[in-house]
Amino acid sequence: MSYKNFYITSPIYYVNDVPHIGHAYTSISCDVMARFKRLEGFDVRFLTGTDEHGQKVEKSAISRGKTPQQFCDEISAKFRELAQTLNLSNDDFIRTTEERHKKSAQELWRILEKKGWIYKSVYEGWYAVRDEAFYGEDELVNGKAPTGADVEWHKEESYFFKLSAFQDKLLALYEAVPDFVQPASKLNEVLSFVRGGKDYVKGALRDLSISRTSFGWGVKVPGEESHVMYVWLDALANYISALGFPNTQDPLIQKFWCDTTDSPVHVVGKDILRFHAVYWPAFLMAAQIPLPNKVFAHGWWTNEGQKISKSLGNVIDPHAELEWLRSFGCDESQAVDYFRYFLLREVPFGNDGDYSRKNFTTRINAELANNIGNLAQRILSMVYKNNDGKIVNISYYDDAKELLEKAYKLPAEVTCEMNKFAFDEAIEKIVNFARACNLFVDQKAPWTMKKEHRYEEMNMVLSTIAESLRCLAITLQPFVPTISARMLDLLNVEKNQRDLKFVNGDFTLRSGHKINEPKGLFPRLETKTT
Ligand code: MSP
Repeated sequence: MSYKNFYITSPIYYVNDVPHIGHAYTSISCDVMARFKRLEGFDVRFLTGTDEHGQKVEKSAISRGKTPQQFCDEISAKFRELAQTLNLSNDDFIRTTEERHKKSAQELWRILEKKGWIYKSVYEGWYAVRDEAFYGEDELVNGKAPTGADVEWHKEESYFFKLSAFQDKLLALYEAVPDFVQPASKLNEVLSFVRGGKDYVKGALRDLSISRTSFGWGVKVPGEESHVMYVWLDALANYISALGFPNTQDPLIQKFWCDTTDSPVHVVGKDILRFHAVYWPAFLMAAQIPLPNKVFAHGWWTNEGQKISKSLGNVIDPHAELEWLRSFGCDESQAVDYFRYFLLREVPFGNDGDYSRKNFTTRINAELANNIGNLAQRILSMVYKNNDGKIVNISYYDDAKELLEKAYKLPAEVTCEMNKFAFDEAIEKIVNFARACNLFVDQKAPWTMKKEHRYEEMNMVLSTIAESLRCLAITLQPFVPTISARMLDLLNVEKNQRDLKFVNGDFTLRSGHKINEPKGLFPRLETKTT
């Protein structure tokens, strides 16, 4: 088993509509984790993509007068563009209308069928197209799905998956791997669903209808062309399709599904936890395919306190937010980095959060512009102006050594938070370190040292902070990749020395190391009054 392979996936997004903040959030969180693991030295694979089948997509296409395939091509392209805009480092982008995926989903079906987990019967019950989910009578709230989606009564011939046979096996899984579902608070919800309430109710898990006949936009059921596969069975298979399934000898599947200990990790929104933490492991157990390592369910954003919905017209469009940021003078990359930072910093991952431009502005100005940005600007300009752009490093005072010790501990502290998916806390460690640096600078007042011709002391302060900034910028890369890279470019740090393992004294900026001319890295979000 290798500890150094890491596979992370975002959900694949429905193409019934254009991307919004929810999609951006899940994707950015995966990207930050993927980048962080790469910095740690892991061999990482990050997958995202689009979920293109099902009744919801078919209906949307028809209502726009397009064929489903045309419609999918158009909207899927928008998700791909968003991935580029947000600077996602995904290694693959899968579409469920691709042949490689259809082949994989059908093979998964065949295996389940061969092993006796599928039977034909009639489905009679409620279905919510918006959720692409079946609901029991007992789950309805005022005649609607618990999510608020409208439900329709369906009666049709259908194949079923023997989910009921997996009740005990799933419970045994959650017990054996207590962090299979994260955050821990979300596990209760899953347990309650699988147990059929608080206490164990044998047979509480009903068999799952896994094929539909009333529409045709889906992966055909092998050997039964009039049925299409239930969109969730189809969609969940994407995680292995992208690794080469059904070829289980594919190097990708070997490396990123089998030979990995901390992954696969599926990051999902809380609304789709059941599919990932119940149905998916049950399908995999049934097919005798190894299980993922973790399903992490994040919370939902509201907009200025209000639930986001199309009917309220308050859907947050990432492109509009980036444009808003550019109105403050941010360039494209700075805008993207600020957006990434705010989403992961503002709310503990797993909690719901409220998106407000006011909080956005306060957060960025306080932590990035004033704290880290100012520190870099004032110290690096002094190095540049006073020493011919060179670090002059003679000796360190004890308190400088203390600060550098903190700098070298940063990767371990941040890793500890990242291992818990505590993005906000990971950032907090970095921000706190920058605060300590600012305090050091304020106490030492290198500008006074300069005035008083105490150059040796001044250089000690400047080199300490330049070195601290090197460590800080390396650690900050996953969150704000472009700005951190610019900071490392200013510091003239070699491109191949930007991993966490270089955050130690052996790679310190040495005396005579030349830096580049400092430029403002973190623009303040304020309306300029001229
Ligand atoms: N196609 C399925 C996933 C299949 S995975 C095998 C799907 N797609 S989706 O496009 O509807 O969901 C996208 C993701 O966006 C989900 O993780 C969902 O939780 C997330 N969000 C949608 N609205 C959101 C917010 N308002 N806030 C945060 N995330 C939200 O479900």
